[in-house]
Amino acid sequence: MSLPIEKSSSDELAREVARRRTFAIISHPDAGKTTLTEKLLLYAGAVHLAGAVHARSHQRASRSDWMELEQARGISITSTALQFDYQGVRVNLLDTPGHQDFSEDTYRTLMAVDSAVMVLDSAKGIEPQTKKLFAVCRKRNIPIMTFINKMDQPGRHPYELLEEIEQTLGMTAVPFNWPIGEGAGFLGLYDLQEPQVLFFQRTLHNQKRAPMRVETFPHPSLAETLGEAYGPLQEEIALLTGAGTKFDRDRFLAGQLTPVFFGSALTNFGVEPFLNAFLQLAPPPSPRMSSRGLMQPTDEKFSGFVFKIQANMDPQHRDRMAFLRIVSGRFEKDMMVHHARLDRKIRMTRPHRLFGRDRETIEEAYPGDVVGLVNPGLFAIGDTLCSGSPLAFDAIPQFPPECFGVLRSQDLTKQKQFQKGLQQLEEEGVMQVFYSPDHVRREPVLAAVGELQFDVVASRLETEYGVKTLVERMPFVLARWVTGDPDVIARIYWPQDTRRLVDRDGRMVMLFGSERLLSYCMKEYASLKFQLREEIEKIQNS
Ligand code: G4P
Repeated sequence: MSLPIEKSSSDELAREVARRRTFAIISHPDAGKTTLTEKLLLYAGAVHLAGAVHARSHQRASRSDWMELEQARGISITSTALQFDYQGVRVNLLDTPGHQDFSEDTYRTLMAVDSAVMVLDSAKGIEPQTKKLFAVCRKRNIPIMTFINKMDQPGRHPYELLEEIEQTLGMTAVPFNWPIGEGAGFLGLYDLQEPQVLFFQRTLHNQKRAPMRVETFPHPSLAETLGEAYGPLQEEIALLTGAGTKFDRDRFLAGQLTPVFFGSALTNFGVEPFLNAFLQLAPPPSPRMSSRGLMQPTDEKFSGFVFKIQANMDPQHRDRMAFLRIVSGRFEKDMMVHHARLDRKIRMTRPHRLFGRDRETIEEAYPGDVVGLVNPGLFAIGDTLCSGSPLAFDAIPQFPPECFGVLRSQDLTKQKQFQKGLQQLEEEGVMQVFYSPDHVRREPVLAAVGELQFDVVASRLETEYGVKTLVERMPFVLARWVTGDPDVIARIYWPQDTRRLVDRDGRMVMLFGSERLLSYCMKEYASLKFQLREEIEKIQNS
């Protein structure tokens, strides 16, 4: 009688997959990502008072925005995961850092989502960071929903914003609702899916859900309230409902069309209709390409990949957490899985459900979920874990470092903590560490994608490992791993504005002061290979 049991477990898996939504919010800093995150949590009942999540002087902190440096600078620099239930749907919201220097972490997070919400400031439209993040979503054809925020402030005309989305991003923009009034006179939304208007009321400090009144359209009180603006609104609605572009789900799922919603995250106007529409539109977990072909989420065999490592998330625990995105099958606490990179079996003890900084042990998880695994140095970004026959998911792209600096410890008695901190931060992918090949001056050289990462390294070494450091910038802009005949390499007299170093695994790395210098060396020493780390690791792993 084993068949019915198998059937029921696969039914359960299919049911759990169907009710998962895993997404990230992308935006230019200050467009309102943190505020919208917080308000989504408020509407989903995951927090009860917006801004009151952590006892903080500033109301703008959401639970996913927790590091000291973030707080000091008011920017979100590390991604975390938030899981909550709303109307029977299990939502996994992966927080992406907002600052442009942290794009690498953001890129990795976007590898782990099935859809994205793009937040635009109604006065600014598409900004540089929006474009960059959009480009990553486009590469993976991630479906994108757009929330045009700050409608309570004077902004650009909605038509102009839709046109900008179409022209700048090359995506068809289909409004699902339309703002009624603007700036201080923003009263609510016309729902283009149903002939109705949604009026909102502000609450004290915008901390509670804004009461929403639904009226059929046309509505006599609206003519009175809007006065002269009523006529143009009627015309716009006639135009939008008549000739407007229709929503096409397949094009949305292919990332070619974006449904657009208007609102104000600050005053909570439009957050509820947006959340409801999100649950309907956003796709459940998608399949993922692996060395064994496309893995479907409903495949009974468990599989997942690590997209992020984070040390010291909770000062009380002081450990490292690996973030595992489940791709297929049912994950169970204590299950034995195959670790593709180490080619060995490991037991999944102590898996956690994450909510920003908080965590709790879980017994099971399903595709789309993000599980926190306490990481005793076992996991690296991009690792695949699976049950059944071994497989590996496609690698997570790495970004070549462009900023370099010597890291000096100000406290030589704390060498052990210094080295441990460096190793752990490197494992997280915050930066790479290189050393002088002769080991005489063992002052590490940091290599990072963005300069702000140096501040993060220094700040985290101090707060998490108790070591004060200073970073001294170096004038290099490129790094390449050099391989070839050791005799040839030994005889080279490298030009000025280059530096020969080794990475943690002892492989030779050259730093260059300019692209031109690299081209010169590649020509001059044509028998050698000058490669990016990603390229050299691909060769080594194959
Ligand atoms: P980010 O995560 O995308 O960087 O943006 P965040 O939510 O932190 O919002 C940036 C600023 O914009 C904050 O103001 C926030 O209050 C404000 N904001 C967010 N949504 C809206 C909105 O719908 N309407 C208006 N008018 N403002 C909005 P701040 O002055 O930087 O911080 P705070 O002092 O208000 O906390």
